[in-house]
Amino acid sequence: MNIDYSALIQMAFEVRDNALAKYSGFTVGAALLCADEEVFTGCNIECAALSASLCAERVALFKALSEGKRDFVAMAVVGGDSDGGVNDFCPPCGICRQVIAEYCDDPDFEIILARDTDDYIVYTVGELLPEAFTGDKL
Ligand code: THU
Repeated sequence: MNIDYSALIQMAFEVRDNALAKYSGFTVGAALLCADEEVFTGCNIECAALSASLCAERVALFKALSEGKRDFVAMAVVGGDSDGGVNDFCPPCGICRQVIAEYCDDPDFEIILARDTDDYIVYTVGELLPEAFTGDKL
C-alpha cells in the first residue's frame, strides 16, 4: 500500500490534542493505518495511580483490535511537552514495543516517528524490538 506519511502524521498530531497528561505534561498522539485503509488514533491517558495510565500507541492499537481489525500497515507517533516548543522524536516505550510486536507482526509494518509532517524516521518492529519474545517462543 502507498502510505501517505504526512496525512498519517497529521492525524497523530490532531489526536495528541486530546491527551490527558496532567501528571507528566507530556502529550503523545498515534495514528494506526489498517490494511483496509481505516485509521485508528490514540492519545496518552494518565491517571493519578500512574501505572493505570496508557500510552497513545496502545490506545490506538487496542481501539483497532477491539473493532475487529487484525491487519496493520503503519503507525505514526508524535509526542512532546504539552507546552509546545520543539518536538523531538517520541519513540514507543518498551511495553508498547512488546504489544506492537505481538499484533503488528507483518514484517513490513512501519513505525513512523515524526517531529513534523515532513520530518520523520521510519522503523520496522524488528529494528525497535530485536529478538522479541513472541508466541512462537512459548
Ligand atoms: N507515552 C506515550 O503515550 N507513548 C510513548 O511512546 C512514550 C510515553 C506517554 C506515557 C505518559 O503518559 C507520558 O507519555 C510520559 O511518559
